[in-house]
Amino acid sequence: MSDFERYVKLKMHPLYAAHYALWVYWWPLWRRLSSGGILRKWERSNLVREKQAVLDYGCGAGSFTIPAARIVGKTGKVYALDCFSRQLEIVQGNARKAGLTNVETILSDNGIGLPDKSIDVIWMCDVLHELEDRRLALEELHRVLKEDGTLAIYDSMKDGILNYTDGLFSLTNKDGKFYRFSKLS
Ligand SMILES: C[S@@+](CC[C@H](N)C(=O)[O-])C[C@H]1O[C@@H](n2cnc3c(N)ncnc32)[C@H](O)[C@@H]1O
Repeated sequence: MSDFERYVKLKMHPLYAAHYALWVYWWPLWRRLSSGGILRKWERSNLVREKQAVLDYGCGAGSFTIPAARIVGKTGKVYALDCFSRQLEIVQGNARKAGLTNVETILSDNGIGLPDKSIDVIWMCDVLHELEDRRLALEELHRVLKEDGTLAIYDSMKDGILNYTDGLFSLTNKDGKFYRFSKLS
């Protein structure tokens, strides 16, 4: 069986599908409790700023997409990428309710489809450990990040993240599970 066939089989598995069908209900509740501490880390490190282009990779129900869109304002933009369309529908609904017009969703499970060097900040929260090919995903993130851009990863893999960033990104700061990187040319 090829890698692609294995991947499709995993995604089609009924247990996997059921988990994600229910996930959209319980995860946002959990995030409501846990996002405050993470957003304070954003603030402390001045991660997201007005006018920036931000990519929320593996955005889920958009618990960070909406705060990022508020910070970057009308002159900035937030791209919310996920491989599940249900998640993206929730993000679009929440952006509408919040009156935000600067959120664009991207449905994808590998490529990003944005131009080279177009993003100021890439945010990846609790996603990296879920990816099949982490190195390939990071290579794509490297492509879309501006030369002076920032990659910020929050993940239970902690220092395990560094096995995949080598040669692409340089660690500039870490604060618990929050890792901040600059781009290597
Ligand atoms: C644990 S959730 C985190 C969601 C969000 N970042 C948060 O912190 O609330 C992981 C998310 O990554 C997405 N994901 C998993 N594999 C992906 C892939 N290959 N491409 C894009 N998104 C993916 C899932 O659909 C899910 O929404």
